[in-house]
Amino acid sequence: MTEENRPKFTTRFGVIAATVGTAVGLGNIWRFPYEVGSHGGGAFLLANILCVVFIGIPVVCSEFLMGRASRRNIFGAMSALAPEGGRWWRFAGLLGVASGTLILSFYAVVAGWTLEYLFQSVSGSLTTEGTHQSHIEFADFTAGWRCLFWTIVLLAINTVVVLRGVQKGIEKVSNWLMPLLFVLLVVMAVNSVLLPGAKAGLEFLFRPDFSHVDASTFLSALGQAFFSLSVGLGTLTVYGSYFPSDTKIVRSASIMAGLDTMVAIVAGVIIFPAVFSFGMEPAAGPQLVFEVLPDIFRQMTGGAVWATMFFLLLFIASLTSTISLSETGVSFCVERWHLSRGKAVACTMGFVTFFGVFCALSFGPMSAMTVFGMTIFDIFDYVTSNIFLPVGGMLVSIFVGWVVDRPTVARQLSPAPRFLCRVVIFLLRYICPLAILAVFLNNILG
Ligand code: TRP
Repeated sequence: MTEENRPKFTTRFGVIAATVGTAVGLGNIWRFPYEVGSHGGGAFLLANILCVVFIGIPVVCSEFLMGRASRRNIFGAMSALAPEGGRWWRFAGLLGVASGTLILSFYAVVAGWTLEYLFQSVSGSLTTEGTHQSHIEFADFTAGWRCLFWTIVLLAINTVVVLRGVQKGIEKVSNWLMPLLFVLLVVMAVNSVLLPGAKAGLEFLFRPDFSHVDASTFLSALGQAFFSLSVGLGTLTVYGSYFPSDTKIVRSASIMAGLDTMVAIVAGVIIFPAVFSFGMEPAAGPQLVFEVLPDIFRQMTGGAVWATMFFLLLFIASLTSTISLSETGVSFCVERWHLSRGKAVACTMGFVTFFGVFCALSFGPMSAMTVFGMTIFDIFDYVTSNIFLPVGGMLVSIFVGWVVDRPTVARQLSPAPRFLCRVVIFLLRYICPLAILAVFLNNILG
């Protein structure tokens, strides 16, 4: 596909909305707040911000520039930008595309759960008085077939959006949903802060406790930064390949990272004051969002409305992330096998639905199918988050730092000041690969 007829995002707002859309997801809303609270509050926040600035942003810039310089997906970008066709580097690209598909298979399941909870909130059944036992209800729901239904609904929504293409699908949906997401965030945060006893929640989130800080804090902060920024598997390369030629890469990467971090912090400001105000225990992951919060909404005045807003927020955040993951596979199929967009979508979504079925049923009908005690869902989550993502991120930084020729990198990073470009390249060459290696080894060996 030539430079001229390749689809591009049409406006600067569209670029920001789409990139923030991929970054802001479940990682911000259910992972970040808890990580902060349990790893020393403000101290972890500081470590996370350092990781985002010095490691995250340079790797985001790399992915964007690989995409825009080559106008291809990560597999094509690695062949195009490496000397002699990058025979080996292409495998790194392939790893990226494969892990994107695997992440999408389990991420879509969780995003599907948010749809069930959204419908229950709207209908009022989530918050009506009665004999609710959130813990049991959540376990029952995820163990049943309804969970598979919602996974398929979610993947169908993705199919429709990516079928409509880059401008009419991805950009348009992001342009509508991202502002709505920010409005929901602000309204909910104000409500939370005004709850009686909100202060304890804010303290849990922000008070720096340096006694909790050790090497593992820093490593978790980096892992969090990576997942949250969506780096490491070519999603951002694909979006970078749709950037207009005058998009400023360093600036876009910084805005995306800044808004992503801000959303994560605001999510904490929404969740923890409410948790403490209602005398609950802060928990992590699915339990926090699908068990603790429904209990809170049931006791809150206007609970059904707040629950609807919250699950809508979670749904929007996860939908725009799944769209970016879908597009990673689609663009690979279009470019590698010269398929029409329709066929590429069918091929990608077919694969993802196949794996998604196994992930969706991992909590019930297929819970006995385990390897090393992990269900299929757990394996996909573990392998991608702990192995593929860090390896992918490290390869991207080595690739752009050492392999891609310097004038190409400099041209893509301009008009950022020369000094800033030098700093980015220095970080990519020396700091990012080593830091990522440290996290990787810690995850594997620890
Ligand atoms: N960043 C998203 C989140 O925070 C998840 C995500 C979307 C992702 N695309 C990705 C993670 C690509 C890694 C790679 O929930």
